[in-house]
Amino acid sequence: MSKLSIVLAGLGPRGKFWAEVINRSADCELAAYVDPNPEALKNAQKQFGLKPQFTNLADALKSLPSINAVVLATPPEGRESQIRLACEYRLPLLIEKPLALSLKESAKFVKMAEAANIPMMIGLNFRYLGVTQATLDLIKKDIVGKPAFGHFTYERWRDGTQARLNKYPLEMQQPMLWEQSIHHFDLMRFVYETEPISVYCKTWNPSWSMYKDDTNVSAIFSFANGVTVTYQGTWQSAWQEPHFEWRTDCTKGVIIQKDQFSELNYAKLHDAQLSSIALAPHETWITDTQGVLAAFANSLLRNQPLEASGFDHLKSLAMIEACIISSQEARVVDIPTLFDTTLSLPDS
Ligand SMILES: NC(=O)c1ccc[n+]([C@@H]2O[C@H](COP(=O)([O-])OP(=O)(O)OC[C@H]3O[C@@H](n4cnc5c(N)ncnc54)[C@H](O)[C@@H]3O)[C@@H](O)[C@H]2O)c1
Repeated sequence: MSKLSIVLAGLGPRGKFWAEVINRSADCELAAYVDPNPEALKNAQKQFGLKPQFTNLADALKSLPSINAVVLATPPEGRESQIRLACEYRLPLLIEKPLALSLKESAKFVKMAEAANIPMMIGLNFRYLGVTQATLDLIKKDIVGKPAFGHFTYERWRDGTQARLNKYPLEMQQPMLWEQSIHHFDLMRFVYETEPISVYCKTWNPSWSMYKDDTNVSAIFSFANGVTVTYQGTWQSAWQEPHFEWRTDCTKGVIIQKDQFSELNYAKLHDAQLSSIALAPHETWITDTQGVLAAFANSLLRNQPLEASGFDHLKSLAMIEACIISSQEARVVDIPTLFDTTLSLPDS
């Protein structure tokens, strides 16, 4: 195989970025569109080129025997039949986060892919940002020592009624955790190269929230390598200007990221000022998604190890579920126990 022929299911705001990125890739070709919404199909034909189109994945896979991978950019609820089909046709899957809206269901999907022996990668695009890679590099080169503690702040007024945004988060349970914090928790595991041990968390909804369920998350995580992280995330900040800061205090200095896509700085203990790190130019939602697609293609075309696998993703999903339990029961939740217990549950 020299090129991946990809069927793209889901042509909403996220699927459009996937269509653009697949079209720009030398390793991949966009073979077909799948979406039950005729308007979405029509727009894709106009914006990303004329392709065979289908209203469901089953018809696409039946009609196009030359497909060799599936990208799922559908909402996280209701993916089972699509994943089952990909398993049946032995087609590698690249799936948007979160894999599903519970750890148990996600574990079931991971087991299905394992049983069918197909690779399943999750679209964790923030891992592939230049700023994330540069943070990893700072830590690996021991410029400011080893991470010891951090705070991660993401405060945004997300107007969920905007046309360019998906609508299901307005009604779903714990939208901030499943849709947004999942990226942040994954970044903590990825950059600190460790696994979570426990969390104490409270989630709630501010009085003015346009979302049905909680948009605020405050949590304290402990990680296996001794790192402690204080997390604050909200989609219903009381100011329209976004605020992001990820600060890590390390054994010889600090790392401070001031924007979710860029602005990386560090300082050693006695430095009077921060030093900024030069980052490669970045096209928002494109460069990072290109990183995901390149990793997926490299694993399939060049036998590179699969990155951001479904199994790995379960560990970040366990952090989400631990936050929910902690908030409901007002207690510290042991994350490895939750992970092991869920994985050993029979599938239903
Ligand atoms: N990684 C990121 O940065 C990022 C950013 C935004 C969204 N996402 C994720 O991408 C996914 C989709 O998000 P969105 O904002 O595009 O959602 P959306 O609800 O706005 O759009 C989803 C699209 O999928 C279509 N669809 C629904 N069921 C389908 C099915 N069975 N087969 C084919 N198409 C189907 C819908 O008609 C719609 O066009 C979610 O998992 C979301 O969390 C990721």
